Amino acid sequence: MTVTHQQPPSDQPSDQPSGRQPAERLDADAAQEALHDRISADSLTTRRDYLRIVATVSGGLAAGGVAVAAGVLHRHGDSDTAPPAQKIADRMEPGQSIAFRYPEEDDRAVAARLGDGTLVGYSAVCTHLACAVLWRNDRGSEGELYCPCHEGVFDARTGEVTAGPPPRPLPKVLLVEQGDGSVWAVGTTRSAESVKDALCRQLGDERPDMAAGLGCPGAGGAEERTRRT
Ligand code: FES
Repeated sequence: MTVTHQQPPSDQPSDQPSGRQPAERLDADAAQEALHDRISADSLTTRRDYLRIVATVSGGLAAGGVAVAAGVLHRHGDSDTAPPAQKIADRMEPGQSIAFRYPEEDDRAVAARLGDGTLVGYSAVCTHLACAVLWRNDRGSEGELYCPCHEGVFDARTGEVTAGPPPRPLPKVLLVEQGDGSVWAVGTTRSAESVKDALCRQLGDERPDMAAGLGCPGAGGAEERTRRT
């Protein structure tokens, strides 16, 4: 694993999914299985959880949400296979950053904990010409994402372009923190896509009930029409 600015914890997992330890893979599989069970069991709880994950990722941090998004957010929405939740660190302290791969082996990503505790995660593939984006803790008021190829700069908190030629913001990697402090990647958005839009896009086909609960545009239409007739 490569650390963009600071050294990772010594017990940090490999940045290669294929290199994950069996126990970690089991953890991820178990987390995803638990999510599916939970979704099936209680739609009200599920709706509440989805509202929470939106708030969580918007705010950057919450405990106990690792399973919530794992089964519904796909790789940039282009795959029919949901990526498993992936543990990226046992713990992240303010100012720490970690480079990892998610959701696939070729997908470079970076996570950081800002000074106020907010967790942020992004694709580390520059939206200009796909160079590797680095986390720089010594730049900006709270760090920044820097592409050395053509001096592209992205905002640490939002991923928006703040300087240079990149045409679009960095896609987000959705992170959640478990109660034990471990940090997990659970999904991605497209560039400039909000977390809610990412959820709605994925939920529309697979879980229209949840999409309706989130107030996704067009969700629950068939049900509504049935009720009216
Ligand atoms: Fe990143 Fe050009 S490839 S700024």
